[in-house]
Amino acid sequence: MAHLTGPQVTPIVALDVPDRAGAQALVSRLGDSCDFYKVGLELFSAEGPAIVGWLRAQGKRVFVDLKLHDIPTTVRGAARSVARHGAALLTVHASGGQAMVAAAVEGAAEGAPDGGCSILGVTILTSLDAAGVSSAWGRGAVDVQAEVVRLAGLVAAGQGAGIVCSGHEAAAVRAAYGRALGLLIPGIRLPGGEAHDQRRVMSPQAAAEAGARWLILGRAVTGAADPAQAMAAVHAALASVA
Ligand code: C5P
Repeated sequence: MAHLTGPQVTPIVALDVPDRAGAQALVSRLGDSCDFYKVGLELFSAEGPAIVGWLRAQGKRVFVDLKLHDIPTTVRGAARSVARHGAALLTVHASGGQAMVAAAVEGAAEGAPDGGCSILGVTILTSLDAAGVSSAWGRGAVDVQAEVVRLAGLVAAGQGAGIVCSGHEAAAVRAAYGRALGLLIPGIRLPGGEAHDQRRVMSPQAAAEAGARWLILGRAVTGAADPAQAMAAVHAALASVA
């Protein structure tokens, strides 16, 4: 299991853009203020793994957020391929089960023998509330926080490096797993910023205090009039916690 130590929190900017031109524009505007980017389904589907190679050539680290969910053999092969392209982080759905998470970890290690590609498990999508989980999974009343902790257990058992969860579930996961799982927290907003369509948001400082290892910065940075200045505010907030 990957044990993460120290108070260091790494901000990652989400390249939620349709194509390479949009990614290049954002990376150029952010310059040295950001060295870690997330490539999600939209950009990866448009540009393929070449976008990962381009970011690596710019000296950036890359989180490939594909949220894989398939039989273990297939996920293992996909993780191997993504790791070969130089991704530092890759997501799979924790609900794929312990064996699937373990297969992803093995595939990533085959693709990046230096251990450079870590697997994170997505617990419960933040777009689902208790009624949504209950309906999707055919269950009665669901306690979302308890489900997140249960799914985190599958990720830990499969030797994943961490999980994706909302800042509001971070303390419960920390209490159950300590630092054995790194927490990647989306839904980050700068004080005074708009929440947009996110219901449960948190400041960088609060997320760091809740135990985040990585923060996903979306519109709080990419939608700012001056993204580099917004990123500087994120770094300042994180420095105040360290
Ligand atoms: O901060 P903002 O709301 O713009 O963030 C949107 C980004 O956060 C998207 O890239 C989305 O995929 C990501 N996200 C995530 N995990 C979640 C929810 C959103 O990585 N559970």
